[in-house]
Amino acid sequence: MLFLNTMVEGERCDVRIEDGVIKSRGSVSASPGEEVVEGGLLTPPLAEPHVHLDAALLGARRPNVSGTLTEGIENWAALRRELTAEDVTDRARKTIEMYASWGALCIRTHVDTGCLAAVEALCALRDELDGITLQVVAFPQEGILRAPGRRESWEQAVALGCDAVGCIPHFERTTEEGWETVRMAFDLAEAHGISVDLHCDETDDPASRNLEVVCAEALKRDMGRQVVAGHCTAMHSYPNPYAAKIIGLVAESGVQIVTNPLDNIVLQGRYDEYPRRRGHTRVDALWEAGCSVGIGHDSVQDPWYRLGTANLVDAAYMLVHYAHLTGEEQMRRTFRVLHDDNHRCFGGAPKIAEGEPARLVWWPSSDPIDLLRDRPRPRVFR
Ligand code: FE2
Repeated sequence: MLFLNTMVEGERCDVRIEDGVIKSRGSVSASPGEEVVEGGLLTPPLAEPHVHLDAALLGARRPNVSGTLTEGIENWAALRRELTAEDVTDRARKTIEMYASWGALCIRTHVDTGCLAAVEALCALRDELDGITLQVVAFPQEGILRAPGRRESWEQAVALGCDAVGCIPHFERTTEEGWETVRMAFDLAEAHGISVDLHCDETDDPASRNLEVVCAEALKRDMGRQVVAGHCTAMHSYPNPYAAKIIGLVAESGVQIVTNPLDNIVLQGRYDEYPRRRGHTRVDALWEAGCSVGIGHDSVQDPWYRLGTANLVDAAYMLVHYAHLTGEEQMRRTFRVLHDDNHRCFGGAPKIAEGEPARLVWWPSSDPIDLLRDRPRPRVFR
C-alpha cells in the first residue's frame, strides 16, 4: 500500500509498504490496484514507558471509594492475595490489545514483586508475544526494607528474568533507608546487567529527595542512559533553588524522567486544602535543561485510577492542560514524546526509512494539535 502526501518527521512525502517492510520513502506514484491512504501523519508506533499490567482492569473488582492513593494501595494489597497467573495473563493480554489499538506496540510494565506468580506470568507473556515489545520491571510496591521477606522476593523476581529493577524509596521508613534502596537497586541491576526504573518521589513532600541520589549513582556508575525515574512529583513542591539544582543533575546524569499525568493529577495534592497543588514534575523546566521526559499512562482501570483507556494520547492531553504546555510547539512536542522519547528504554525510536519493518501508525490529521484535541483512533500496522 501507499501513503500519499503524508507528513513524516516534518516533511510531506510518499511511503510505500510491501510485505511488512518499508519499500520506499520519497516521491512515488500509485500502482494500479494499490491501496492508497492520502494525507495525515505517519509515525513510528507509540511506546508506553510506565504501566502496571498486573493491576490493570482490576479497579471494578474492589472499587476505590475515596479515590485516594492510600485506599488504592490497600485495595491492591487485598486483590494481590487472590491473583493467579491465568488471571494476570488474561488481563494483561486484554490491556495490551487496548494499547495496540491506540498505536502503542512497545510497553514497559511494572510488576509487584509481592506476587511472584504475576512476575512469572508477565515474563512468560513477554517471551511469547508477537508484534508487541514488552518489558517487565521488578517493582516492590510496598518497599524493600519495610518488612522482612520483601528484599528476598524482589531479588527473586529480578532473577526470574525481569528487564529492569524498580524500587520505591519514598515509601521506605526513613530517608536513609530510602537512599539505601536506591543503591541496592543499582547494585542489583548491575549484577544482572539490566536497567533501573524507579518510582521516585511520588509524593507532595518537598523533603522527599531521592532523585538526587538516583542521579548521583547514575553518574558514578556511568549508567544514566539505563535509568528511568518515574513520577518525581515532589519536584513540583521543591523550593525553586533546589529544583534548579536537581534539574541540572538530571540533565548531567542523562537519567530520563517519566511523568504520569492521569494518575498524578488525581492522586497528588490530597493533603492540601485550598489551594491544591497539581503535583506533577516540572516538564517545561526539564525540557529547557535538555532532559528527556517520557509520558506514561500508569493505570488502566486499576485500583488507583478507574478511568484509564490505554490511549497514550489521553495522557498527553491531560499533561498539556495541567502542566501549562499549551504553547503551539509545546503541544506538538508533547505528542512527539509518545513516539520518540517514550522509546528510550526500548533502545530508541524506530526509523521510518527504506528497508525498515513497516511497524507504523497512521493518524488522520498531519497536525499533532488536531490529534491531541480529537484523540482519534489511528490505523496501526504491526
Ligand atoms: Fe506506577
